[in-house]
Amino acid sequence: MASYDVIIIGSGPGGYVCAIRCAQLGLKTAIVEGRDTLGGTCLNVGCIPSKALLHASHQLHEAEHNFAKMGLKGKSPSVDWKQMLAYKDDVVATNTKGVEFLMKKNKVDWLKGWGSIPGAGKVKVGDDVHETKNIIIATGSEASSLPGVETDEKVVVTSTGALELGKVPKKLVVIGAGVIGLELGSVYSRLGSEVTVVEYLDAITPGMDAEVQKTFQRILKKQGLKFIMGAAVQKTEATKTKAKVHYKLRKDDSEHVLDADVVLVATGRKPFTDGLGLDTLGVELSERGQVKVGKDWQTNVPGVYAIGDVIDGPMLAHKAEDEGMAVAEQVAGKHGHVNYGVIPGVIYTWPEVANVGATEQDLKDSGRAYKTGKFMFMGNGRAKANFAGDGFVKILADKDTDRILGVHIIGPGAGDLIHEACVAMEFGASAQDLAMTCHAHPTYSEAVREAALACGDGAIHS
Ligand code: NAI
Repeated sequence: MASYDVIIIGSGPGGYVCAIRCAQLGLKTAIVEGRDTLGGTCLNVGCIPSKALLHASHQLHEAEHNFAKMGLKGKSPSVDWKQMLAYKDDVVATNTKGVEFLMKKNKVDWLKGWGSIPGAGKVKVGDDVHETKNIIIATGSEASSLPGVETDEKVVVTSTGALELGKVPKKLVVIGAGVIGLELGSVYSRLGSEVTVVEYLDAITPGMDAEVQKTFQRILKKQGLKFIMGAAVQKTEATKTKAKVHYKLRKDDSEHVLDADVVLVATGRKPFTDGLGLDTLGVELSERGQVKVGKDWQTNVPGVYAIGDVIDGPMLAHKAEDEGMAVAEQVAGKHGHVNYGVIPGVIYTWPEVANVGATEQDLKDSGRAYKTGKFMFMGNGRAKANFAGDGFVKILADKDTDRILGVHIIGPGAGDLIHEACVAMEFGASAQDLAMTCHAHPTYSEAVREAALACGDGAIHS
């Protein structure tokens, strides 16, 4: 068997990015993947396919709601669901093949099969045991289960089944108003499903800025999504074609039942470490099943590292990518680093929602004196022209130093606009630095500048 400097287990955004960086740094590298295609959850059954369906369904929404206003008359397109799924599969195939190309280009060996770690310095794939100086666990996460709810990926589905439904359901019940529930709920709502979201807490998207949460929920309601808040799902009962969702309202313990054609369970994800043999190896896990790592992403077993969804932190592809690059540098004797204070989060609904850094609640909790600069997209010319005036940019800056501490955007292109804030925060910029930077007109980005101006002497267009 060939012997390697690094073997990475798992080819999601954490694993494959790590493999490329390892190879670039001159390390002899292999990646282990048991799926038929590379790219992990993100490319195969997560970020990429869901974005394809969000894109397609958004076009339909535009045709139905905005075309006539712009003088584009005619019948709205009808949905050919099979073709839409084929488009989505095609997007996935192009992306996963792209990763395979990158592995070849960088001379990374793909060890096909599910890997386990029989001992430090050894990775077993099928019947072969490969020797390696370093092992990086990048095995990602899987949907967490909910007591009383059994998924069959046809009627009661996780996000994976929701990307492959036989038809657009008439009634979709989504359990959990988190990122997955709202993105996929939006897709089916646009395609004509009656969507009801049942959420345990009193606000959607836990952990997000409270003002954004309220605005976001109002906009989604206007788009037709229904919400049942403060409701704990107790169980589901499913036949081959229908399901019932039983829930209890927290305020009075009253019990209720919803009928559904499809139920999407989107109540979070948990680390996936099955079959790796971590028990025998003695790798320490947290109570939540996360692999425990030190600052250099090394576990308690020397030479065994872990990154991405299997360790602590937000379960985001780009967080895993950053860790992938940083751990590669650590293994190569350099000084890989991840700035966990500047990891953006994006929800790809319409409008998009994006955030980076502290929320107002975080700042209140830590007793930090701050000021707020806010600008509504209604005051942005480009947004108005594009029927995209809903939402705002909010910048939180230190009251005394003006340093940017957090940015929260709900509005058109929020997922791209947030990176202006990320770069500014990486450089320790003040709100005034953003405010004094010339922004092209007419762009959505002017709303970011206006929010920065609002941290000082005032925005111009509000
Ligand atoms: P989530 O943690 O974002 O939301 C789960 C929601 O379910 C919470 O609001 C929670 O209060 C609710 N819930 C839990 N138990 C419940 C019950 N019994 N009854 C009713 N509600 C209940 O989890 P989600 O949406 O499944 O996403 C999983 C992970 O995937 C997240 O870490 C997310 O960041 C990531 N992801 C990120 C995306 C992006 O960056 N755009 C897209 C999709 C997923």
